[in-house]
Amino acid sequence: MKVTVVGAGAVGASCAEYIAMKDFASEVVLVDIKEGFAEGKAMDLMQTASLNGFDTKITGTTGDYSKTAGSKVAVITSGIPRKPGMTREELIGINAGIVKDVTANLVKHSPDVIIIVVSNPMDTMAYLVHKTSGLPKNKIIGMGGALDSARFKYRLAEALESPISDVDGMVIAAHSDTGMLPLMSKATRNGVPVTEFLSEEQQNYVAEETKVGGATLTKLLGTSAWYAPGAAVSVLVQSILCDQKKMIPCSLMLDGEYGESDICLGVPAIIGANGVEKIVDITLTDAEKAKFAEAAKAVREVNGDLKF
Ligand code: NAI
Repeated sequence: MKVTVVGAGAVGASCAEYIAMKDFASEVVLVDIKEGFAEGKAMDLMQTASLNGFDTKITGTTGDYSKTAGSKVAVITSGIPRKPGMTREELIGINAGIVKDVTANLVKHSPDVIIIVVSNPMDTMAYLVHKTSGLPKNKIIGMGGALDSARFKYRLAEALESPISDVDGMVIAAHSDTGMLPLMSKATRNGVPVTEFLSEEQQNYVAEETKVGGATLTKLLGTSAWYAPGAAVSVLVQSILCDQKKMIPCSLMLDGEYGESDICLGVPAIIGANGVEKIVDITLTDAEKAKFAEAAKAVREVNGDLKF
């Protein structure tokens, strides 16, 4: 099955690399607006195939969307990333125009496509794709929770001095420094609540470091991260293409779930061949409910800046 990745920059190329390395797709088409860039990235990645042992074909195109026709999944990473000190929300002006344009081109050539939105501010970009693409809501998935949960597990394992494979945890709500909600009450180490191992101070440290996980990397790298975002996208794409039905927190259009409507926010969902197969309703504490509602309010304000 064919997967398109729009934007052959840091995140797009990382998505293509992880998808190809896992060898579950027949073809990955990279699209970029910069002349020759996607073709170059595709060629470079293809030259790793014999070294890394994968058969996925990777091709690139400078804006010829006919090459993306028949894609089962398309990932939108095109747009500008943040620089140190910037919030994701500050990217809206430029990225909204790009995401709207790219979506129209993708749907024209692959009317049944499932779109994964990565460009920031991601919750608002996912909302924009809902409002402009004409696709059913099960076919639009914002990627944030998969990455933020991986960052949460990294920080939990660090605090617990435990291997990462022993810990589990999930981040829901908004993909923003203030709106992320790491669910400490449900995080576990081999099935035991982490609250039994970590002091309140340690729990707060883990939650805060998780929320600013992207900003910390942006400060170190001078631009936003790409390895973990690419890996997180590849997990989503694999769950769709291989119909794995994994439960992954994603930014989805809500219609009453978690007390919100007409907004995209991170909630746990079963992701399979049909895209979003079910939003999973988990019980939140009163404090978590209040934080979820606060995150919704902030995302709604950013959504208000969109022009369709
Ligand atoms: P980048 O600058 O390395 O790559 C972006 C690419 O998009 C560039 O190659 C550019 O030429 C291309 N592009 C721009 N307009 C285009 C168009 N109309 N059609 C096709 N290609 C176009 O940026 P990077 O680091 O890859 O980040 C991409 C986006 O992903 C940013 O908005 C960033 O904030 C976001 N991001 C989101 C994450 C998430 O968890 N949702 C995580 C990390 C980044």
